[in-house]
Order: sequence, then structure tokens, then C-alpha cells
Amino acid sequence: MDLWKEMDTYVRQWIREAGDRIIESFESPLVIETKSDRNDLVTNIDKETEQFLIRKIRTTFPEHRILGEEGFGEEIKDAGGVIWILDPIDGTVNFVHQKRNFMISIGVYEDGIGKLGYIYDVVHQELYSARAGKGAYFNGIPLPKLKENRLEDTILALNPTYVVSNRKMAPSKLAELVRDVRATRSYGSAALEMAYVAAGRLDAYMTMQLSPWDFAAGKILIEEVGGIVTDIYGKPLNILENSSVFASKPQLHETILRRYAPES
Ligand code: IPD
Ligand code: CA
Ligand code: CA
Repeated sequence: MDLWKEMDTYVRQWIREAGDRIIESFESPLVIETKSDRNDLVTNIDKETEQFLIRKIRTTFPEHRILGEEGFGEEIKDAGGVIWILDPIDGTVNFVHQKRNFMISIGVYEDGIGKLGYIYDVVHQELYSARAGKGAYFNGIPLPKLKENRLEDTILALNPTYVVSNRKMAPSKLAELVRDVRATRSYGSAALEMAYVAAGRLDAYMTMQLSPWDFAAGKILIEEVGGIVTDIYGKPLNILENSSVFASKPQLHETILRRYAPES
């Protein structure tokens, strides 16, 4: 069997199993710790989920490398070979405070090129998946190619704190963009927001700072439905580097960059 197809069959199984374990964990008290600051949370369930996925991957594909947000994978400095990029819970603040709107995100890259992408909405049991060149799916149903829309009809996902302050783009420019679109949304999970762009529920998503595990899967999903994923200057993303991210339908991407983009 083709390697990617074989991996695809495994990941679908593992991600749903990992999701079921998270749901079961709702019954037990959470151990919550902070990382870089008091709002950067991690729980025992983030760690257990990453360890669970890594055990599965290492047993089945021992020659592959793994980059995981919680550090149970390897330190990876080059993009050679097959690399799994895991975010065991994307939207940990939502997980802790709301017990919803958090995702498991898994991206698989070969020599820096996206091959497989999975974003699993644990509470809704909704799986967004993509295989490079084979399209993107929502619970197994093909997602259609994205249809363009005008800027004034756009629903843009954006973290409102960036309109107040950020180091990458003039808050006044962002405020203009927010004023010119139809509406903004902020769900608190980059993976969810990227899955929603792929599914056509959001027209664009812009954020000033993400890590590879936040965007690895979403990038593949969005590209499979004809969308564009770059940084906020329009430059390609490096799958091993932190970056701003701007994901959108192609024409809208160009329009927004032309009118509002910062000079790099
Ligand atoms: C966070 C979420 C959030 C984004 C942050 C990420 P985490 O991931 O994706 O939406 O704005 O930059 O760190 O910490 O919940 O996995
Ligand atoms: Ca994340
Ligand atoms: Ca996370």
C-alpha cells in the first residue's frame, strides 16, 4: 500500500482514540501549569495526549521523526525525511475554561513539503483531513474548492488583542481591515480557525505569532481546497519556524495584502 494511504488509515484511528481519551478525562480533576506566562497554559491532558500519539507513531513508523509542542518528540533542526508535527491540544485555554473549541492537530511533512493534515474537533467529533494532491475532507466528505468573495463580505478570524498592540503590523492598519470586513471572529484555536477557512466558514485568518504545530496541519488542509497560507508579508512559511500566519482565498489574500499589509 502507498505509505501516505497507510499512514492516513492509522492517523484517523489514533486521533479519534486520543479524542475519546480526552473526553473521558473530563471526569477527573485537571492538573494545570503555566509555561511562558500566566496565560500560556498546559495540562496533564496535553502531555498525556502527546505521549499517547508519540507511542503510536514510534511503534508503527520508528524511522520517522516527531516534533511535539510539549517536548516529548525530538529536537528537530532540519526538515529532511518524514516529520510528524503534533499539537495535542490546540486551544488549551478553551479546553481549561470551556471544555470545547479545542482541537488535536497533526501535520506530516516530507522534506519540508506538506503531505498529510488532520484537525480533530474533539467535542464535536469532527475530523478535518487532507492528503496532498487528494483533496480535503470533513468527516470523510470532500470539501469543495474555496469560492472567492469580496472584502466587504469577508468574515475574518483575528485575535482582537492584535488590534490594540503587536510588533508586526500597525494596529491602525489592522483596525482599518477590521472596519472594512463584514465581521471578525476569534475562536482561540489556530487549528480550529484554519480548519474553518478550509471548510469555507471563515474567509480569512490572520495572526501575528504561531508555532509550527499550530499551523502545520491547517496549511495542508487550506492548500488542498485552493487557499493560500503565508506569513502576513505574503512570504512562504517555514515549517520549522515560528511565524505570523495569513490564510485566505487567493484573490482575497492578494487584496488584503495589497491594501493593508505591513512593509517587511
Ligand atoms: C494557541 C492557540 C491560539 C493562538 C496561540 C497558540 P495552544 O495554541 O492556537 O489560538 O493564538 O498563539 O499558542 O497553546 O492552545 O496550543
Ligand atoms: Ca497550539
Ligand atoms: Ca497546544
